[in-house]
Amino acid sequence: MQAAAGLFITFEGIDGAGKSTHIENLADALRARGRQVTLTREPGGTPLAEQLRELVLHQAMDPLCEALLMFAARRDHLRQVIEPALARGDVVLCDRFTDATFAYQGGGRGFDLAVLRQLERWVQTRPDANSLRQPDLTVWFDLPTAVAAQRLAGARVPDRFEAEPAAFFERVAQGYAQRMAEDPARFARVDSSQPREAVWLAVRAAFEQRGWLGRNDGAQRVGP
Ligand code: TYD
Repeated sequence: MQAAAGLFITFEGIDGAGKSTHIENLADALRARGRQVTLTREPGGTPLAEQLRELVLHQAMDPLCEALLMFAARRDHLRQVIEPALARGDVVLCDRFTDATFAYQGGGRGFDLAVLRQLERWVQTRPDANSLRQPDLTVWFDLPTAVAAQRLAGARVPDRFEAEPAAFFERVAQGYAQRMAEDPARFARVDSSQPREAVWLAVRAAFEQRGWLGRNDGAQRVGP
């Protein structure tokens, strides 16, 4: 048959949920299977979008401005990186995507979800113009806000989001839960309060179930 089809996988969760090591592990496991992997993140992933990231993480602005910048960064990222990588047949592993906008700007900031849906439609219309680009799978690292806060404590100088109080992250978590309820087949929810090895096994299982990894793929990277 023809070359492998591209796969678009996104990773979500509140700050402190511990996505990074697992994303790296997945990239290693998929490459070991012969897949080309594009590892990227939002906001960011292109020179323009990385500049927008700097602004949105550190400059004061109103929620509409924040939402517009998130989607502006996403538009550039989709056009420059994600769509070309998927067209080549890569697996795109993207640390956060539009669910984060619904969770943080929608849930956390209380911004109008109908406006976010409109922006999602404008920005994610695919090159064929007939459908929206959505992830093939979204891994949601779910854990109680108190546990996440403990993990983040003292780690570094917090950005505008990390500096928010627990109640903000409760609303963000509810925002993720709502997005999952709207499209459950797209999501794999992983209980991230478990020990890291158990979290990794759950992440890998989501890929195994879809036939993207085999039973013995993905030895665990030794964490810090
Ligand atoms: P994060 O992905 O946690 O990166 P790091 O691990 O380097 O801190 O940081 C990105 C922050 O941006 C995070 O707090 C969530 C926020 N964010 C939004 O508010 N909306 C969005 O649409 C995206 C993609 C991220």
